[in-house]
Amino acid sequence: MSQPLLTLDFLDTPTLPTAAVDAATHAHEPSGQVRVQAATRTGKSRKLYIESYGCQMNFSDSEIVSSILFEQGFDTTDQLEGADLVLLNTCSIREKAEQTVRMRLSQINSHKKRNPGLLVGVLGCMAERLKSKFLEEEKLVDLVVGPDAYRDLPQLIQQVDGGQKAVNVLLSREETYADITPVRLNSNGITAFISIMRGCDNMCSFCVVPFTRGRERSRDAHSIVQEARDLVAAGYKEVTLLGQNVDSYKWASEDGTEAVNFAQLLERVALVNPLLRVRFSTSHPKDITDEVLHTMASYDNICKYIHLPAQSGNSRVLALMNRTYDRPWYEERVRAIRRIMGEDCAISTDMIAGFCSETEEEHQDTLSLIDFVQYDMGYNFFYSERPGTLAARKLADDIPLEVKKRRLQEVIDRQQLHARARYARMVGRVHQVLVEGRSKRSEEQLSGRNSQNQVVIFPRGTAQKGDYVNVLVTSTTGAALIGEIV
Ligand code: SAH
Ligand code: SF4
Ligand code: F3S
Repeated sequence: MSQPLLTLDFLDTPTLPTAAVDAATHAHEPSGQVRVQAATRTGKSRKLYIESYGCQMNFSDSEIVSSILFEQGFDTTDQLEGADLVLLNTCSIREKAEQTVRMRLSQINSHKKRNPGLLVGVLGCMAERLKSKFLEEEKLVDLVVGPDAYRDLPQLIQQVDGGQKAVNVLLSREETYADITPVRLNSNGITAFISIMRGCDNMCSFCVVPFTRGRERSRDAHSIVQEARDLVAAGYKEVTLLGQNVDSYKWASEDGTEAVNFAQLLERVALVNPLLRVRFSTSHPKDITDEVLHTMASYDNICKYIHLPAQSGNSRVLALMNRTYDRPWYEERVRAIRRIMGEDCAISTDMIAGFCSETEEEHQDTLSLIDFVQYDMGYNFFYSERPGTLAARKLADDIPLEVKKRRLQEVIDRQQLHARARYARMVGRVHQVLVEGRSKRSEEQLSGRNSQNQVVIFPRGTAQKGDYVNVLVTSTTGAALIGEIV
């Protein structure tokens, strides 16, 4: 199935090496990429066009929405032209993310003028944040549905078909969509997302997610393992377990005889099939345990890559952010990763530059943490105040924009220095690579990733999409490894 990845606008300059886009999916996707769902054509009477913004949770949710609407007589299409229903699955994480959606809505507005029958819906985090205000602000919108209300979509669409506007933004303490088999639209047929939990209880002071996604809840472990089995049976070779904070996964059977934590879940999924690669995202530094690290070390098919967002390298700023760990704690977790899995385990981060009251010295601490960890990858942003968050209510957004941007650039530059060095140390070694498809640049080249999530590009030979191949890496562009099959 084709997987159009349309980069409309990179928000807040995340430092994603360009070659990472060459791979079909990567473990953590910053806001700023929008993916148009591929088409399913099974002769249904109506056509759904869905665009997803923000994080992987949204991309994964769009697959659930497509599944619910498929049952209701909607095929998906990758063309806005000819669609009967347009859904934007939106993100609120930074102001720029919301602006991108507003711009897209105005384009869709002019399209709707030419196609008066078109229905337009807004899903996801912006829908949850703005609720029915959306209908007042954006006259073209017919439908506003929050992340926990997707089961209500058929009923809401009926309401819209009847000429009314429809809103459901109720959050739930239980909804995990465990029984819904996603329509795999985000996938290349090789890699897939499995959502293992929803919501977040952490209340980091800068973050809107607890407000838009509601309380944290974990999905039934058996349904997760079953989904992994089904994916293997359908030919998939890699799953990414998704949650805002996967290390706090906690599920117990109703009769109380079975309790599963994240390390145990990871092991159960790894045991589904030794040829199924297992990734996960995101790990919160306060929760990642040695048990998880030992489980990772014990299974070759659990990929040696951890997305461990630090946000800042300074303990006072971390306290203001309400991250509940300090710098020594974070450094100790990194030492534990190195101790248990060795130097090869890749680590990536998210950093926020210019958070409320951050001094130059405190910014320097972020740079020195980057030097300490030597991250393989980083998604870096400048602070963007979000209405209703703890920081917006209690702290002044007092760092001038130019200073935020300059600090962000310094963070990016420092992080890229280490990323290049981390790529360079892989040259001359043989890597096991899962082939994900042909390289964006050439028909003759294939592209895949190693366990560390680094992109590897090599001449195709006889290898096929979905194969595991051993590639001797001979050079690096600084953002991808180049080699040949051995
Ligand atoms: N659950 C993940 C984060 C999800 S949001 C975690 O705790 O690590 C993805 C990233 O967006 C965050 O890690 C943070 O770096 C960034 N972010 C969140 N809110 C932000 C804000 N108000 N301004 C700038 N960046 C923000
Ligand atoms: Fe936001 Fe913090 Fe939850 Fe991550 S852990 S989603 S940054 S509140
Ligand atoms: Fe954005 Fe919501 Fe994800 S705010 S980052 S889409 S959880």
